[in-house]
Amino acid sequence: MSIHIGANQGDIADFVLLPGDPLRAKFIAENFLEDAVCYSEIRGMLGFTGTYDGKRVSVQGTGMGLPSHLIYVNELINDYGVKTLVRVGTCGGLQKDIDVRDVVMAISASTDSAILSRTFNGMTYAPTASFKLILKASQVAQTLGIKLKAGNILSSDVFYNDPELPDAYAIWSKYGSLAVEMESAGLFMIAAKNHVDAISLLTVSDHLLSGEHCSAEERQTAFVDMIRLALHLVE
Ligand code: HPA
Repeated sequence: MSIHIGANQGDIADFVLLPGDPLRAKFIAENFLEDAVCYSEIRGMLGFTGTYDGKRVSVQGTGMGLPSHLIYVNELINDYGVKTLVRVGTCGGLQKDIDVRDVVMAISASTDSAILSRTFNGMTYAPTASFKLILKASQVAQTLGIKLKAGNILSSDVFYNDPELPDAYAIWSKYGSLAVEMESAGLFMIAAKNHVDAISLLTVSDHLLSGEHCSAEERQTAFVDMIRLALHLVE
């Protein structure tokens, strides 16, 4: 049993969806999976295993930010042998041609997180998603009629930037990062280290250039499209 997940061996599928919000994990389990069973409630960070289209799938909440996300992802990979990890979350748009409700697929994730600079001794690692999953998600999105925006994103440690500091996102936007969230760079780094596949699918819930926000209803519709896409990645 691992410290933070505490499930038994065999409780968790090889394929795991990773929402930050544990209640999103519950929503996905209840609305998309069959015969879903809750395998962890520790700290309210819910995890479920069920089936989708007859294939075994787990969904595990991870909390926000690299530190929390990496605790769950490390245990999933090292203690439960998970082989495919798909983050499903929200992000803030950083480009004019990214709109609220869009689904963004992160091919790579830049970061301001000290976890990476510390790990690589000040040198710059480029956290990258699994090419196999990038290809498959692109194909499935076409089949499902979901328009994907794909590219580099920013995984930031800071949600509330100090307004007195110069625009925290300007440099990332200038260099083409599509959107900001808070986890994917850690996920891609740890997946690469362990030779497993990872990708991030994100719906744009707010826009940091225009200030636009999704309504709760729009957010839900975009989220459902993204979950359908994510679940089609299971083999
Ligand atoms: N910043 C970081 N993560 C986010 C944001 C944001 O503005 N919006 C949704 N996820």
